[in-house]
Amino acid sequence: MPDPLPQPHPHSVLSPLTLPGDRELVLRVMPLPADVNANGDIFGGWIMAQVDLAGAVLPSRIAKGRIATVAVNQFIFKQPVSLGDLLSFYARVTRIGNTSISVHVEVYAERNPANLHVVKVTEADLTYVAIDAQGQPRPVPR
Ligand SMILES: CC(C)(COP(=O)(O)OP(=O)(O)OC[C@H]1O[C@@H](n2cnc3c(N)ncnc32)[C@H](O)[C@@H]1OP(=O)(O)O)[C@@H](O)C(=O)NCCC(=O)NCCS
Repeated sequence: MPDPLPQPHPHSVLSPLTLPGDRELVLRVMPLPADVNANGDIFGGWIMAQVDLAGAVLPSRIAKGRIATVAVNQFIFKQPVSLGDLLSFYARVTRIGNTSISVHVEVYAERNPANLHVVKVTEADLTYVAIDAQGQPRPVPR
């Protein structure tokens, strides 16, 4: 069964107030014309970069220092992203290991301001590793 969409709020669509408690709004961004691919949709690599940035927010906080992306464990482009879409990235920590932190990131697009609707466009699972000054794994602080 598909995940329920966050319910639009009359003044602040996808406001953190409307979210289920286990997900946090970590990034909102609108793509630019330079991010369009040959089909006229937004280039998948641009979306992957934004997901990597968004996914790092909670692990950085938990690791209390430098982290590196070690793996993109899953990445699903469910719907194309179009110019004019306002993207909201929600993250949830799924696992904290010895040196690694895994997150699930969901991306929703707000489109068509005249008749606003919200579409889930992307979801991904990523793993980050807490690293020391030499770039080596270090234990996640408890
Ligand atoms: C991140 C990095 C420091 C990890 O070093 P490493 O010697 O490979 O570390 P380890 O094998 O000990 O793994 C570290 C943790 O990552 C986890 N991990 C490694 N590969 C993984 C994968 N494919 N999926 C999920 N977790 C993974 C390990 O399980 C371990 O977690 P734990 O300590 O919580 O059990 C190193 O791989 C690195 O520098 N990679 C490049 C990072 C980078 O530049 N990222 C930006 C994108 S280019």
